Amino acid sequence: MPVPGPGYSITVRLEAPPSASAAGDLTTAVGRVGGVLTAFDVVESHADAIVVDITANVLSADHAEDITSELDSLPGVHVRKVSDRTFLMHLGGKLEVSPKVNLRNRDDLSRAYTPGVARVCQAIAANPEDARRLTIKRNTVAVVTDGSAVLGLGNIGPAAALPVMEGKAALFKKFAGVDAWPVCLDTQDTEEIIRTVRALAPVYAGINLEDIAAPRCFEIEARLREQLDIPVFHDDQHGTAIVVVAALRNALRVVRKPIENCKIVVSGVGAAGSAIIRLLLRKSPGDIVAVDIDGVVHPGREDMDDNLRWVAEHTNRDKATGTLHDALVGADVFIGVSAPNLFGAEQVATMADDAVVFALANPDPEIDPLEAQQHAAVVATGRSDYPNQINNVLAFPGVFRGLLDAHAHHIDDEMLLAAANAIADVVDDRLNASFIVPSVFDAAVAPAVAEAVRAAARREEVASTA
Ligand SMILES: NC(=O)c1ccc[n+]([C@@H]2O[C@H](COP(=O)([O-])OP(=O)(O)OC[C@H]3O[C@@H](n4cnc5c(N)ncnc54)[C@H](O)[C@@H]3O)[C@@H](O)[C@H]2O)c1
Repeated sequence: MPVPGPGYSITVRLEAPPSASAAGDLTTAVGRVGGVLTAFDVVESHADAIVVDITANVLSADHAEDITSELDSLPGVHVRKVSDRTFLMHLGGKLEVSPKVNLRNRDDLSRAYTPGVARVCQAIAANPEDARRLTIKRNTVAVVTDGSAVLGLGNIGPAAALPVMEGKAALFKKFAGVDAWPVCLDTQDTEEIIRTVRALAPVYAGINLEDIAAPRCFEIEARLREQLDIPVFHDDQHGTAIVVVAALRNALRVVRKPIENCKIVVSGVGAAGSAIIRLLLRKSPGDIVAVDIDGVVHPGREDMDDNLRWVAEHTNRDKATGTLHDALVGADVFIGVSAPNLFGAEQVATMADDAVVFALANPDPEIDPLEAQQHAAVVATGRSDYPNQINNVLAFPGVFRGLLDAHAHHIDDEMLLAAANAIADVVDDRLNASFIVPSVFDAAVAPAVAEAVRAAARREEVASTA
């Protein structure tokens, strides 16, 4: 039975009798229908009544309704209003622009704006690289989406995607001091997206593509990387791949298996799965077997697109065919970025001893982690309510911090691997089966990732000018 979490939290304002038992009656009523009470505040007190705000985590709109009715049915209780705390947090959006300069008088104005600003414009016109020194470009990233693959919600369009992009921008600032801004495009045409991002690129020192559906996301990223002189990073692909590679390095340390001896099954060959496979191949694994909705990916399969063909050519040493369940037999590692509830404990039992299971489909993983634990030595999910959460927040803020600091013009696999190693290293001697990645709130992570990416970018710059 799922437990209500803070993602859906309501505050019920109600009037109740001022009796000694009122608080107990109200809190018991919330618990009786499965709400998790998180706050009880008396906001008004009168001789004949008290006004109370009751805050509780709930599971759904229906559940919120049940709790409200339960409270309203108590003798002498009258519910005045119910607010959804998540919606309250979104009122007016989650970001704002704030100037870094004082504009107190005519002097300030004439330097920050005309006429003084004109000389700065001329300096940049004469030397475009100066834009990084003299404008917001230095520290600004565009979070670009077409709204076509938003969270688990699918193609909900650019306006509905905006709350997610705002949240992403807030994370960039909180964890790495990066000024990121949502750019939600009202087009899902590949050429138009490429043209538009190219046209707005002068303002930004990096492009973070977000929630753009596969396979379109592959072409958009590849073409923008060719055409722009700033790094282009699709977080759903590479952010995930970085954290998975980091987590796998530590998981294999726990079970003492070299990756070169491991058979790794990757379920899902979309945005996340393809990038994971490509980055893992750089680590020379024993073998990777990719599986998608049509079964094991092998060179004999028909109707494969370019992405699947590439995967078929570079994985599956024995050209195996069959289903996910077939692929799991004897596998050392399972990495799922596909769909919920694809297998159970009995399939994990067919894997090699000391199996590693990363079931990352959100919100419901490929296997219930409690079932996986029956036979696997290390289990990870994408969820915050289990140990070993594979969360892209561990990667993207530090990656962009490092890229911006290095004035990088591109991003490549060396930088992604450097970021993965940095995340894995932060765990250090705290490593065990329930702690293969650091917490997203570990303040050491983003600086360590930034430093690793900055060093990798500078090494390449030196190599390319030598
Ligand atoms: N950090 C994380 O935990 C994290 C990061 C990225 C993605 N994810 C999750 O991974 C999943 C995939 O994300 P994506 O962006 O790559 O999606 P996507 O749509 O690009 O790809 C989905 C892939 O899963 C495959 N698939 C679908 N149903 C399947 C089934 N029954 N059996 C085997 N394969 C199946 C599809 O064929 C496709 O290859 C989502 O649930 C997403 O939330 C988690």
